[in-house]
Amino acid sequence: MDRLRIGLIGWGTVGSALGRLVLDGPLPLRLDRLAVRNRDREDLPESVDLVAPEEALDADVVVELAGGLEGPRAWARAALDRGTPYVTANKALLATHGDELAALAERRSAALLASASVGGGTPMIETVAHLAATGDIVRLRGLVNATTTFILSAMGRGQAYDDALRDAQEAGYAEADPSFDVEGRDAAQKLAILASVAWGRWRPESDVETRGILETAVAPGRIVRLVADGDRDSLRVAPATLDAVDPLAVLEGVESMLEIVSRDGSTVRVSGPGAGGRVTAGAVYADLARLVAGERPILFGTGT
Ligand code: HSE
Repeated sequence: MDRLRIGLIGWGTVGSALGRLVLDGPLPLRLDRLAVRNRDREDLPESVDLVAPEEALDADVVVELAGGLEGPRAWARAALDRGTPYVTANKALLATHGDELAALAERRSAALLASASVGGGTPMIETVAHLAATGDIVRLRGLVNATTTFILSAMGRGQAYDDALRDAQEAGYAEADPSFDVEGRDAAQKLAILASVAWGRWRPESDVETRGILETAVAPGRIVRLVADGDRDSLRVAPATLDAVDPLAVLEGVESMLEIVSRDGSTVRVSGPGAGGRVTAGAVYADLARLVAGERPILFGTGT
């Protein structure tokens, strides 16, 4: 079987981990073109052509792990318009321009995949898509931002906010701009994507009523977490005090958890590492496995 030629944009924590997986992993893939911001990095693979992002689009599959909004939007449009599958971890892109991109993917019969955009290494989107098949999901609830879980649990142990944020940044969980984490936007974008998959209609980040943790105090012994919660009609992200027996209350660090409640009251829980280079790259790699298998999935419908 011919190897799928990958055009990769981005060589940060996740991009470099994905690059190594493509080079060493079991799938028939070839890292063909690589667009990086910093060509002086010492860990760049020698066998790969370094190109501008626009040139990385000339591949069998485009993988965008660069982040940002308008650049990725233009790259995604150009790739999908040519019918080229587009794989990304870019939450902001999907929660802002997801309808336009899904419509284009549909028109051109091109795959649009983003397992790594929610849950890091935990298959949250896949689990929601599985349960959405019968149309029975009535509620989503979870902790989907590792940085705030880490900070709030450290504050519960008496650590100061600033110290806990610095530790979360050093652990590599926080976004490049951590205000996305602590203002709740990262969680809101993830909830918007999950809701789009659950209820078959694209939901933008602006549909999520969002309050972050900047004003949150944690009294000793209290379990406070940034909870994402929603149903078909309303979506919210806000800090909440959790009962000790709440399944979400056991999460302390990078672990994320999503509860998916169905009409009959049954609840499916999925949990695992919500951030980190290697595990998140594993989710991108799993998307690539679907393309190798000949699938052409589109993350969510446009609802039109
Ligand atoms: N900053 C994100 C988090 C990374 O803390 O969950 C994974 O999306």
